Amino acid sequence: MEQTLVFVKPDGVQRGLIGEIIARLEKRGLKLVAAKFMQVSEELAGQHYAIHKNEPFYDSLIEYITAAPVMAMVWEGNRAVEAVRQTMGDTRPTDGKSGSIRQDFGLEIGRNLTHASDKLENAKKEIELWFSSEEIISWQRVLDEWIFE
Ligand code: RTP
Ligand code: MG
Repeated sequence: MEQTLVFVKPDGVQRGLIGEIIARLEKRGLKLVAAKFMQVSEELAGQHYAIHKNEPFYDSLIEYITAAPVMAMVWEGNRAVEAVRQTMGDTRPTDGKSGSIRQDFGLEIGRNLTHASDKLENAKKEIELWFSSEEIISWQRVLDEWIFE
């Protein structure tokens, strides 16, 4: 089963949307296997967003992500990477359809509330970067057989 890294960005935390975002992922049927509320260091932000190092928005992205705490999580499920990206919505909150988190709660690309890994290979790397193996809990959810086929 796939695992993917999610974090509620500083704007989501400041706006009191942690619960709303977790609720949507829970209701979708995804399974929470790790979570921690934390301040992101410059170092972690730089490693996480290394791919964007040469983008014009890089400095403001690092400033944004380190400006206040985030709620970091690992969610599990069949095709979890794709499912979570779909629940988050397009990167720019005014693109795409409404009904996703970014489109329902956001307006600006630099205040888009959440992160979710974009592919399985990156999900694996990001989970390793953000969580130790002891922080990831393997557990049996009683509803699993009614959610996972
Ligand atoms: P994320 O990595 O944060 O989950 O977002 P994403 O995959 O949807 O988008 P990505 O291309 O990886 O961009 C990372 C974050 O950088 C900010 N951004 N700003 N000003 C801009 O043009 C711009 N483009 C991207 C966004 O906060 C985006 O989520
Ligand atoms: Mg990305």
